[in-house]
Amino acid sequence: MKRFVLAITGASGSPFGIRVLEELSKTAEVHLVISSNSFSIIRDETGLDWAEDTENTVRKHCGSDRIFFYADRHMEAPIASGSFRTDGMMVVPCSMKTLSGIAAGYAANLIERAADVTMKERRSLLLSPREMPFSAIHLENMLKLARIGVTIAPPVPAFYHKPAGLEEMVDFIAGKILDTFGVEHTLFKRWGS
Ligand SMILES: Cc1cc2nc3c(=O)[nH]c(=O)nc-3n(C[C@H](O)[C@H](O)[C@H](O)COP(=O)(O)O)c2cc1C
Repeated sequence: MKRFVLAITGASGSPFGIRVLEELSKTAEVHLVISSNSFSIIRDETGLDWAEDTENTVRKHCGSDRIFFYADRHMEAPIASGSFRTDGMMVVPCSMKTLSGIAAGYAANLIERAADVTMKERRSLLLSPREMPFSAIHLENMLKLARIGVTIAPPVPAFYHKPAGLEEMVDFIAGKILDTFGVEHTLFKRWGS
């Protein structure tokens, strides 16, 4: 079974991270970090209160016991070490603060450290940065990471699949993210199919 790290940070767009989590946990082991800043945003954007008893609450929500949750201050977690093998890491959505911490190799919390480990071990790392508009600092951080092989996948919607509403737009973004890691899904109808 594949094993992924998924981080949800305090950018707007928590439904994208949650959709990835729901889908990923159907077939893979997911090591989940939710930044302390993002619990209130998740609540505001989705109505889900995951701040207490997070692992059990999230497992129940997804109907999966393959989810392992760590607080962002938990630097002793398995995913903080390169010796713990994973098939890659996704940060969805990724705030500009976490983006800059990853680009600088700062590793100040578990999300930045796990991303640092993913890069040093040359595993797949995907960031879904959400801000509008981007400043030159944001773009420079993204370019720096893209040049070393990090996938920069902002949650930009498409219309060619004719989404019926917001839910199908979110599914499209989540599906595109899962495609990057070769995870099977039926979240959207493929062009030409
Ligand atoms: C309602 C709300 C929405 C936010 N949206 C964004 C966003 O879209 N992008 C971003 O970079 N920061 C956004 N922020 C700011 C981040 O939450 C803030 O920079 C925080 O320190 C990020 O920390 P984290 O990356 O550890 O979660 C938002 C904050 C709030 C309260």
